[in-house]
Amino acid sequence: MVARGVMLGPDQPVILHMLDIEPAAEALKGVKMELIDAAFPLLKGVLATTDVVEACTGVNIAVMVGGFPRKEGMERKDVMSKNVSIYKAQASALEKHAAADCKVLVVANPANTNALILKEFAPSIPEKNITCLTRLDHNRALGQISERVNVQVSDVKNVIIWGNHSSTQYPDVNHATVNTSSGEKPVRELVADDKWLNGDFITTVQQRGAAIIKARKLSSALSAASSACDHIRDWVLGTPKGTWVSMGVYSDGSYGIQSGLIYSFPVTCEGGKWSIVQGLKVDEFSREKMDATAKELMEEKSLAYSCLN
Ligand code: LMR
Repeated sequence: MVARGVMLGPDQPVILHMLDIEPAAEALKGVKMELIDAAFPLLKGVLATTDVVEACTGVNIAVMVGGFPRKEGMERKDVMSKNVSIYKAQASALEKHAAADCKVLVVANPANTNALILKEFAPSIPEKNITCLTRLDHNRALGQISERVNVQVSDVKNVIIWGNHSSTQYPDVNHATVNTSSGEKPVRELVADDKWLNGDFITTVQQRGAAIIKARKLSSALSAASSACDHIRDWVLGTPKGTWVSMGVYSDGSYGIQSGLIYSFPVTCEGGKWSIVQGLKVDEFSREKMDATAKELMEEKSLAYSCLN
């Protein structure tokens, strides 16, 4: 997808640096061969390496997909200690060798907390440049609404994922709309089923990652890759007017969310910078759910720090 221009647009040449662990070196070589064989016009170079320093040198965009994977039945917390050490090492390499304005997207779980660890150990990378993926959850929410209302997914917008990329995340449709032949309509008006919107819709989106693991015996792949491209594309090239997206970003205290957490907020992007959408009304139901997912992130943060020690 990156080599085809899905991430950075059809006019942006790319050089791919791919990092994997030693046991996967041979398979990684195979991926490099395939990239060459696909003759992507935008692909100006491919580096396949098991050396973290070589991989990080000079990169402008780092998509951190490597981590210890969650297997069926495992909780995200189970994989925390393994990932904390991986992210500490990769943060140090990015800190020393990446381009000064490197933008970082953490995909591997626990994504928010991995991003926080990365931020801690790469202090010279501006905190605004370190993000995690909740666009997958955002897209899942759009998909659920489009199925329910029976409209094109591209006609649904402005859902919000608040908080952690985990089962405590809060998918919020209170400001979401659908583009209809008679103009933009609130999702709540078109669905007109608060029981579903406040119940099954939320749990379906929260549990979608686990449902995919159950079905595939593997984590989401296509949807995660596509959402990662969406995340970077909108961050670099900007969000469409009147539309926001969800990104896990360093909290500045907006919406009463404690600063010092990487928390998913609604954001708009312009000129390569994201800003949290301000002034949205938060009702009591939402407040409770936003705080619950923040609480989980605080617990993850303490767990991660205990693993570091
Ligand atoms: C997903 O949301 O699909 C993944 O984050 C699930 C997982 O834990 O790998």
